[in-house]
Amino acid sequence: MQKRITITSALPYANGPLHIGHLAGVYIPADIYARFQRKKGNDVLFVGGSDEHGIPITIRAKKENKTPQEVVDEYHELIKNTLSDFGVSYDNYSRTSAKIHEETSQDFFLKLYESGKFEEKETEQFYDEKAGEFLADRYIMGTCPNCGNEDAYGDQCEKCGSTLSPTELINPRSMLSGEIPVKKVTKHWYFPLNEYEDFLTKWILEGHKDDWRTNVYGQVKSWINDGLKPRAMTRDLNWGVPVPTPKNPPKDWDSKGKVLYVWFDAPIGYISSTKEWAKNNDKNWEDYWKNPDTKLVHFIGKDNIVFHCIIFPSMLKSHGEYILPENVPANEFLNLENDKISTSRNWAVWAHEYLKDFPDKQDVLRYVLTANAPETKDNNFTWKDFQTKNNSELVAILGNFINRVLVLTNKYYEGKVPDATIEDKDAEEIKGYVTKVNDFLEKYEFRNALAEFMNLARFGNQYLQANEPWKKLDNPEEVEKIMFTSIQITGALAQLMEAFMPFTSKKLMEILNVKSQLWNDAEFGKIQAGHTFNEPQLLFEKIEDSQVEQQVNKLLESKKNNMKTNPNAEDAKTECTFDDFTKIDLRVCTILEAEKVEKTDKLMKLKVDTGVDVRTVVSGISQSFSAEELIGKQVTILLNLAPRKIRGIESQGMLLLADKEDGKLTFISPEEKVENGTIVG
Ligand code: MF3
Ligand code: ZN
Repeated sequence: MQKRITITSALPYANGPLHIGHLAGVYIPADIYARFQRKKGNDVLFVGGSDEHGIPITIRAKKENKTPQEVVDEYHELIKNTLSDFGVSYDNYSRTSAKIHEETSQDFFLKLYESGKFEEKETEQFYDEKAGEFLADRYIMGTCPNCGNEDAYGDQCEKCGSTLSPTELINPRSMLSGEIPVKKVTKHWYFPLNEYEDFLTKWILEGHKDDWRTNVYGQVKSWINDGLKPRAMTRDLNWGVPVPTPKNPPKDWDSKGKVLYVWFDAPIGYISSTKEWAKNNDKNWEDYWKNPDTKLVHFIGKDNIVFHCIIFPSMLKSHGEYILPENVPANEFLNLENDKISTSRNWAVWAHEYLKDFPDKQDVLRYVLTANAPETKDNNFTWKDFQTKNNSELVAILGNFINRVLVLTNKYYEGKVPDATIEDKDAEEIKGYVTKVNDFLEKYEFRNALAEFMNLARFGNQYLQANEPWKKLDNPEEVEKIMFTSIQITGALAQLMEAFMPFTSKKLMEILNVKSQLWNDAEFGKIQAGHTFNEPQLLFEKIEDSQVEQQVNKLLESKKNNMKTNPNAEDAKTECTFDDFTKIDLRVCTILEAEKVEKTDKLMKLKVDTGVDVRTVVSGISQSFSAEELIGKQVTILLNLAPRKIRGIESQGMLLLADKEDGKLTFISPEEKVENGTIVG
């Protein structure tokens, strides 16, 4: 029977590009599941979108001197394109700055408000009087009480890793103005999570002990055991969905300057994305969110568990009309070359950059990330492993088998499937793999499913190797049977491949001249006698050492940059010996005369007293200094630089200058007056 399934994938923050951790953790498994369920003939709705509110966005905007809207516009576009380039097959990809989202999340809030589900509470929060704004924890800095780091944030010290609250900071300061923040009373709407403990216990702890992943179940259990507390669902911020005013507001209603908490509005983004899709496709969105026959599945990373298993379901429950997720297959984290992926340290493989370096190799990354998926524990991506999986699995096993079948079919039968039958035991063997792939996918065990898919290719290789049709050409009937059987394996591979590697599967189906089939089709994966193939092409190609070395070097480059205290500083030059250094003759000299070199923008002709002599130097400084202000200045000269002619004037030495941030130059000069000719060194 056809099932209706609503599949969501966590809305990525539109404050930066996606990296392989995002793909492995959320988007690829969600896409495999959506493709698989569509192939099973189910009524699948797969929605996503960009999370465009919250502090990560405003911080990025501040850093880049942009408005939050400019930031999200840029990254929404980039993220959306990256996901589509990787074949993530959304039915709709929306964004939380969309009008429909504002309406949907405001309606949701009002419904809870009007049915008395919130508690109003006044608390004291830090406020920046100069900026006239309340400060989110991330906007307060100060000294960490645990390690003395002077640049700890209000919510966390990045040096010692401790979790903080802004009141614990010694000497707190506002990141907006640098001023000392003051405490000010503010009112917010709290959602009493504590009242949902029983519901959550029954629904998850008792109801999903066996079918939810242990990491998910365990986190939920520990949250509930620790006791849930009411959580504010609104914030004093100027970026987000404005807190709506109810129809008949109480006299003291004041929601000015308040927005919905980002974790209140973001998951509602799944619903708004559904509404947007329904509107454009003439569907009823409520079927996908309110019908108890619909199965809801959230794909997320482990840092999102509390929001998707505790807060959002409690909101849905409290609202009353919604279904709850049937499963929340959260992944652990993916590390990169044995180090935690970090955006701020640029320790990441950026998805859009991967595509520049490996165009048309989306499926290779999809394969490697699925084979290595961090389903039950954190996992690791290395470029070496990427190369190995490509060369020894995709090329040597899968590609090799399919290619042999195609080439031999061409050679023996001019691409026409021979008239033969497959032995029952071989047909059963194929069916066995199909069933295993199916069962693992149904259980969200993507790694295992992919492994069984590859085992079918291994079986194919072994079958060919054991039967060696090329040695039996004097027995055409036997060869026909072997080839027919190998072709059936290939046909099944083409179908099974679709969910994992959609680009390659499409290519293979074109070569085989077959169509995508439904999983429960009696003819699933089968290819009839007499059917003709198109020209074979290679499905995978070897990845060379030089290609992965280049990627590793790119990462080493970010390691180097991470050690810089000034990210703009140029890389250190190669080492020189002390002897090299002593060859350089640096002296203090005084500028005696200065005059602009005619018909040039930058050049200045100077006469300097070096103590050794009086000489002429040409220097590109006239955009930074006037001739008058130069006269009498003591500066440093590289005395023994070989003379060079510049615009017809012989320059006998070089003055030492540093570039300033504003593009002007500044001299390297002694702090006090010294005699001309004094050695610098
Ligand atoms: N933007 C969040 C993150 O990247 C995920 C939001 S998921 C949603 O961690 F459900 F809230 F949308
Ligand atoms: Zn600290």
